[in-house]
Amino acid sequence: MKTLKLNSGHDIPIVGLGTWRAQPEETEKAVHTALEAGYKHIDTAFNYNTEESIGEVVKKWTKEGKTKREDLFITTKLPHVGNRPKDVGRYLQMSLERLQMNYVDLYLVHMPFSFLGNPETHAPLTNEDGTFRLDVDNDVIGTWAEMEKQVEQGKAKSIGLSNFNLEQIEKICLSCKIKPSVLQVEHHAYLQQPDLVERCKKLGIVVTAYSPLGSPGANQHFSSKYNYELEDFPDILGHPTVGNLSEKYGKTPGQILLRHITQKGIVVIPKSLNPKRIKDNIDIFDFELIDDDIRMMNDLDRGEKGRIFDFLFFKGVEKHPEYPFKQRLTVDGEKISQL
Ligand SMILES: NC(=O)c1ccc[n+]([C@@H]2O[C@H](COP(=O)([O-])OP(=O)(O)OC[C@H]3O[C@@H](n4cnc5c(N)ncnc54)[C@H](OP(=O)(O)O)[C@@H]3O)[C@@H](O)[C@H]2O)c1
Repeated sequence: MKTLKLNSGHDIPIVGLGTWRAQPEETEKAVHTALEAGYKHIDTAFNYNTEESIGEVVKKWTKEGKTKREDLFITTKLPHVGNRPKDVGRYLQMSLERLQMNYVDLYLVHMPFSFLGNPETHAPLTNEDGTFRLDVDNDVIGTWAEMEKQVEQGKAKSIGLSNFNLEQIEKICLSCKIKPSVLQVEHHAYLQQPDLVERCKKLGIVVTAYSPLGSPGANQHFSSKYNYELEDFPDILGHPTVGNLSEKYGKTPGQILLRHITQKGIVVIPKSLNPKRIKDNIDIFDFELIDDDIRMMNDLDRGEKGRIFDFLFFKGVEKHPEYPFKQRLTVDGEKISQL
């Protein structure tokens, strides 16, 4: 498995298995299939409710001598309800207990904004009108200092950020002792963010692409869980350019999308519960897109209009001072989702 070197000195496998929206039993099966297929990297979060299942499979595999913990790369994330200095250690400890591990390879601040949460269920609290109860006092720099302590205590090998914009990343880089190793952001053919990627490269931060296939099925989830839908949800896997390249290279559309991203030195974490697709998604190292085809894929970028995860399904989140995608809300004064 190809890896990239992090500024912490550790290596991150360039393909990992995503686990968002997977039920516990499905997760166990998918992680098992993935480990058999050669995956070493699994992505989870406190909020996904997949940590326990991942922990079970890893425990079984290590007990049976089929893998060693140190050969795996496990990422989890500090939730939006725990995004404040005093909660960092507590939430990481809860994740470690769920994972049955004494360290994670990568701990990410899941989002720059924070909500007040129910202390029992860890669900965000809402107001009577359905808006989320914002914690506007969150201290981003203080939270990062606590993230650094997790490295010093050996509970996280590397630390990083997710869904932060460039300005927020640079602010942390100016005051930190330990630089973020990874930025995990939405990245696919329709949202390529070349400036952000370039800047991260200069800062020595590895980018991980979430939703690298365009997250088919996410709109249904937004609708059933939050009664929120994106107009014109994209079908990136079905784009004719991707189809043509799929025929040309004798690879699936998914493999073309993942190859395009990894060939730029970006990590991908596609989620699948389907054994064939789990295997296909890691089988992308026996071909290379030629420059003209890379350019054709680069041309699919729609900029901010390509963003799926603007988090507006958290009703009222755009009023949080750390909401990262303000430019998403309007283009020339018009709401972008109406364009
Ligand atoms: N940091 C964050 O805020 C954040 C946000 C979103 C996601 N993530 C992480 O990134 C991971 C990936 O993102 P995602 O789950 O949103 O979307 P994704 O990986 O782009 O797409 C997953 C969907 O595509 C299908 N699929 C998988 N492989 C395929 C292939 N080769 N061909 C056709 N369809 C395929 C899957 O269905 P089947 O299961 O039926 O194959 C699943 O419904 C997540 O699971 C999560 O770990 C992080």
